[in-house]
Amino acid sequence: MADDREDLPPTSRLPGFYRAPLAERREAVIGPAVPAELAAHLEAGGALPLPVADRMSENVIAQHGLPLSIATNFRVNGRDVLLPMAVEEPSVVAAASNAARMVRTKGGFHGEATEAVMTAQVQLDAVPDAAAAPERLAPHRARLLEAADRAIPGMVRRGGGCRDLEVRVIDEAEGLVVVHFYVAVGDAMGANVVDTVAEAVAADVATLLGGQVGLRILSNLPLRRMVRVRCAVGADALGGEALIDGIVRASRFAEKDPFRAVTHNKGVMNGVDAVAVALGQDWRAIEAGAHAWASLRGAYGPLAVWWREDDGLVGELEMPLAVATVGGATGVHPGVRAGLSLLGNPGARELAVIVAAAGLASNLAALRALAGEGIQRGHMRLHARKAELEGAAEKAMKKGGGA
Ligand code: MEV
Repeated sequence: MADDREDLPPTSRLPGFYRAPLAERREAVIGPAVPAELAAHLEAGGALPLPVADRMSENVIAQHGLPLSIATNFRVNGRDVLLPMAVEEPSVVAAASNAARMVRTKGGFHGEATEAVMTAQVQLDAVPDAAAAPERLAPHRARLLEAADRAIPGMVRRGGGCRDLEVRVIDEAEGLVVVHFYVAVGDAMGANVVDTVAEAVAADVATLLGGQVGLRILSNLPLRRMVRVRCAVGADALGGEALIDGIVRASRFAEKDPFRAVTHNKGVMNGVDAVAVALGQDWRAIEAGAHAWASLRGAYGPLAVWWREDDGLVGELEMPLAVATVGGATGVHPGVRAGLSLLGNPGARELAVIVAAAGLASNLAALRALAGEGIQRGHMRLHARKAELEGAAEKAMKKGGGA
């Protein structure tokens, strides 16, 4: 994506943005990259039109709202981005924006995502001579990959398709064998595509290996769809050397204790999920994959780690991340479409890096607060504001109800 797109706001550094009236904030971020009808949707408050809601789910009776915010200061792979976030928890957006401001003093976030390759699983039970299953399937590899591609011609036309397969002997005694098909899904989340592949090839695989076909479904642990993002921050921007030490110690704590690692990762997911929800992503799939990945090294561990390097702090987040820019809610939900256009309509791999940057920023903000004054002071300020709002909302409801 070009850095010089004139239809996008030239910088994500918007001092005073949080203090500006809501309408002014909206004006500051909605540029020509947002199509007129989507800008109008945001200007009207962003409620999901009921006919759209009715098509998206079943038994719909209303629509459910969350605040849609913009996290500022993000610079990702040399490009400033205004990050849509939808989250009910106060402080997540402010914290991520603050951390991104510190990180941009050293150039922002840098990262890369692998090709978007999803995993389809075909389960076979009671496979005779299960131990030899990989060897027995190997001569048929090319033909099976071709058969898989034939099931998804549209995806193959768009440059995706079946890249590889793998035979996993899960339980030799029971003959439980699982065959993975690795499918490049382009800018889609890919669930439908890989499910189609799994269903299309299962009978063929069973004929070759014997045994009884079981499940044919994607895995939400997409280890061939990974993202890695890194950032650095100096002691001055962070607020002192002691905070670097504190964050490094916090990282070691998370590396050694699963009880801490899960809370550390909750901080990461504050950012990841807020962007995922704003952009209509399958956040349950993202969550499931993230925590499975966090526990793959034997014990549950941190998704992001921090260490001292040269004169500052460096952090890195690595995780599986299936995010899409086509299909699902991205095509139908006007708020999601507006959010994607605010980002300049990135592809899925670029979006993965942006989402991961939000996760790393959120983790940094949490650890900085915990290593410094503690989390409660900032939280309490924002909770007080929320309590004020609750009072106002209650009054408004009463007034509305009495009218
Ligand atoms: C709260 O939403 C997230 C934190 O608990 C994360 C952490 O402890 O690192 C502050």
